[in-house]
Amino acid sequence: MQNILVVYFSQSGQLERVARTIASPLDAAEDVRVDYLRLEPEPAYPFPWGFFSFLDAFPESVYLDPPCLRPFGLAPDRRYDAIVLAYTVWFLSPAPPVTGFLKSAEGRRLLAGTPVITVTACRNMWLSAQEEVKRMLAEAGAKHCDHVALVDQGSSLATFFTTPRWMLTGRKDRWLGLFPRAGVSEEQIAGSARFGRALLDALRRGALDGARPALNGLDAVRMDDRLLASERIGRRSFRIWGRLLRRVGGPGSPRRKPVLAVYVVFLVAMIVVVVPPSMLIRTLLRPFGRERMARERAYYEQPSGSGTERLGEFSE
Ligand SMILES: Cc1cc2nc3c(=O)[nH]c(=O)nc-3n(C[C@H](O)[C@H](O)[C@H](O)COP(=O)(O)O)c2cc1C
Repeated sequence: MQNILVVYFSQSGQLERVARTIASPLDAAEDVRVDYLRLEPEPAYPFPWGFFSFLDAFPESVYLDPPCLRPFGLAPDRRYDAIVLAYTVWFLSPAPPVTGFLKSAEGRRLLAGTPVITVTACRNMWLSAQEEVKRMLAEAGAKHCDHVALVDQGSSLATFFTTPRWMLTGRKDRWLGLFPRAGVSEEQIAGSARFGRALLDALRRGALDGARPALNGLDAVRMDDRLLASERIGRRSFRIWGRLLRRVGGPGSPRRKPVLAVYVVFLVAMIVVVVPPSMLIRTLLRPFGRERMARERAYYEQPSGSGTERLGEFSE
């Protein structure tokens, strides 16, 4: 019997569905046992979010402050053959409950020496968060071997409206006849079962050993290179404003509100003024910087990559 642990934190249930869809072929196999660990922060984060509570979450997310988590409830001596770590992105950083898991003594014990498959389902900006996750996995001694990234449907411009609307109202439906449904498409979620089939296949062949990817050739991750510059600028600004906010008061402190109000004006201005031109510049420069972009793509899409050559083998 092989043992797999699926760790996730999901507010609306979207990432939980992705994680469970990936795990479904493993769950159905008689020679595999799958345990699920739903991370539960205390106190719980609100969903849908209030405007200020949403913004107020950013300094601690960016500075990777681990929140309190409910006890995991796993057997103290349990080891796993592989761990699927599913996380969402908050403010270009891993959502704090996942940071909490990665920094916890029990999480680190489970991760040490274990093959880890990271999975994210977010709006579209996951590059910086994945760097932080990889760093924390390395600190824990995990063998990171695969990465799957699913992003919200629609253009960057559309999700700039649909994702915050979903977070602040809980509504995902098509909007004004203009915007698509919020979140990852149903086809993408259903299609992610192929990753579970490939993991099962690798597990049975003894190839899920952490030394090589098991999900290569399955269109696991596509980097949108136009977003790299915006992420870099965004992270810098999050760190500067986050430091200021942490000095002003702790999470939820009323003293943070005026600073957050100024920050939100700055943030929206930055997104409107910085993101479209930086995406345009990136698109215009594409013909001149192909080699550098290919290097960046290879780096950010590792370990699983965006190849599609094994899709036929594992898609239904
Ligand atoms: C506080 C907060 C900040 C977010 N920041 C980002 C972000 O920086 N980049 C991104 O692609 N998505 C971001 N998202 C969207 C989430 O990654 C995710 O898609 C959404 O929370 C739904 O996940 P869940 O309902 O499964 O938890 C953010 C969501 C929240 C709640």
